[in-house]
Amino acid sequence: MNKFSIAIDGPASSGKSTVAKILANAFNFVYVDTGAMYRTVTYLAIQHKIEFSDEDQLTELIRRYPISFKQTKEGQLVFVEGEDITQAIRQADVTAAVSEVSAHRKVREELVEAQRRIASSGGVVMDGRDIGTVVLPKAEVKIFLVASVQERAERRHKENLERGIESDLESIQTAIAQRDYLDSHREVSPLLQADDAIRIDTTGMTIEAVVSEIKDIIHQKGC
Ligand code: CDP
Ligand code: CDP
Repeated sequence: MNKFSIAIDGPASSGKSTVAKILANAFNFVYVDTGAMYRTVTYLAIQHKIEFSDEDQLTELIRRYPISFKQTKEGQLVFVEGEDITQAIRQADVTAAVSEVSAHRKVREELVEAQRRIASSGGVVMDGRDIGTVVLPKAEVKIFLVASVQERAERRHKENLERGIESDLESIQTAIAQRDYLDSHREVSPLLQADDAIRIDTTGMTIEAVVSEIKDIIHQKGC
């Protein structure tokens, strides 16, 4: 099978990582969760008491503390300096600050370079906000997932409850809408559908239906 690349972009909770992991398994590709990379810098900034506005210090954190992913039966784990931070980077304090941190040009340059390095030999499914537009503009398959903000908030809420995390639907919806706004309106690499990306509105769709539609697209492209 050809080692093509799949870029999946879209707003929070549109189903990117769920679908990306299933596709990576199906094609035996590497899955790269770029959101986890921006979350890791944000987590490190909180740990090291660095201001979210301090672009140079944030960039220095990326250089000093390289992130690594480990594939396990339970899913993908995120490590920094041997510490498993998979759960920690999903906490509310990180989520609340990640859009501010990820808006810095130097932070993005540093992480985009790392992402391109990982993807350089192909056979990759990468999800994020700027994969089809900036990170992998030549990706053979580009998907842009969307869903109504209500449904996305409900998905996150359900996920939290299943994980035993305290959750309030209304505040999740407000936080998602705010993050959508910040991610779409920043100056550097905003969340944007690439001209050659295929948009799928997943409102009311099951995960299986979304995966099946993407597999059809891949097939039609002859990859
Ligand atoms: O999983 P969820 O949709 O909550 O977000 P994520 O994919 O973990 O991304 C967290 C944040 O990182 C986003 O809200 C963006 O601010 C930033 N991000 C980005 O700027 N560019 C990317 N390629 C991926 C994430
Ligand atoms: O990565 P992203 O933030 O775009 O979303 P996700 O973490 O893959 O999906 C958020 C939640 O929505 C997960 O609990 C998925 O199981 C769920 N989901 C869903 O219910 N229906 C879909 N079509 C896609 C995702």
